[in-house]
Amino acid sequence: MEVVRSREELRRALAALPRPLGLVPTMGWLHAGHRSLIAQAREECAAVAVSIFVNPRQFDDPADLARYPRGEATDLALCAGAGADLVWIPGVDDVYPPGFDTLVTVERLAWPLEGAARPHHFAGVTTVVAVLFGVVRPDRAYFGEKDGQQLRVIDRMVRDLGITEIIRCPTVREPDGLALSSRNVHLSPEDRAAAAILARALFAGRAAHDGGERSADAIRAIVRTVLSTEARADVDYVSLADDATLEELTVVERPALLSLAVRFGTTRLIDNVRLG
Ligand code: PAJ
Repeated sequence: MEVVRSREELRRALAALPRPLGLVPTMGWLHAGHRSLIAQAREECAAVAVSIFVNPRQFDDPADLARYPRGEATDLALCAGAGADLVWIPGVDDVYPPGFDTLVTVERLAWPLEGAARPHHFAGVTTVVAVLFGVVRPDRAYFGEKDGQQLRVIDRMVRDLGITEIIRCPTVREPDGLALSSRNVHLSPEDRAAAAILARALFAGRAAHDGGERSADAIRAIVRTVLSTEARADVDYVSLADDATLEELTVVERPALLSLAVRFGTTRLIDNVRLG
């Protein structure tokens, strides 16, 4: 496995790799969720590249950026173990060279949910992902369902621009249901235990849908009721939206995305499940 930093080193390393090439973009502090993306790319592609870059442009809050966890040595061990051929760890100037003046934005899909809570977030995500795709030129790029809106926004971008193919990978969870996330490291032991309520609430909503409930308000209420049993959980939103457009639903008669954002202290967690 080769590790490169500058765009020039990257170009040389890429030229030596067979195609098709799969790319797994990450911000590091890698866990089993990231590993599953790399492993899936390994199964489906002749070569696998991972990028590790904590992208300053997608953080609305400088404090959130400053405390984002980092650990290069353990990240590289995970990449090697999962079968990556190449890891790109650019600096800020490698991604955004001096004079960089481009913003890539997706419109309606990026407005609700995380976009409403974090106004510059998705423009930061789509801009960095467009740069990664432009520089690496992968045939396929692997993203997790864990970040459901991000996946849909990026999928829209690549379809609109006619670049690369997005592969959707299932959410990897802890035994108690908590979705793996680099941010879980910030949870106190009490909040970590309490955070299992997110998956319990989502699964209760899904069970109601599986049982025939079609009222979106009724399903949202079930999710909120489960969340309300956990005093440490401070609910930001509970959404039940059309799976394709992310518009809030009244009646669930098409595939839908049930998603939520909840704070535990200063740590904000998101999770989702698909219905139908
Ligand atoms: P990051 O949070 O590091 O996540 C990188 C990829 O791993 C994303 O596609 C995310 O959905 C996926 N992932 C995270 N947790 C997962 C889990 N529990 N199960 C399955 N997949 C999981 O998302 C980002 O970085 C950034 O926004 C990025 C796309 C790299 C742009 O900066």
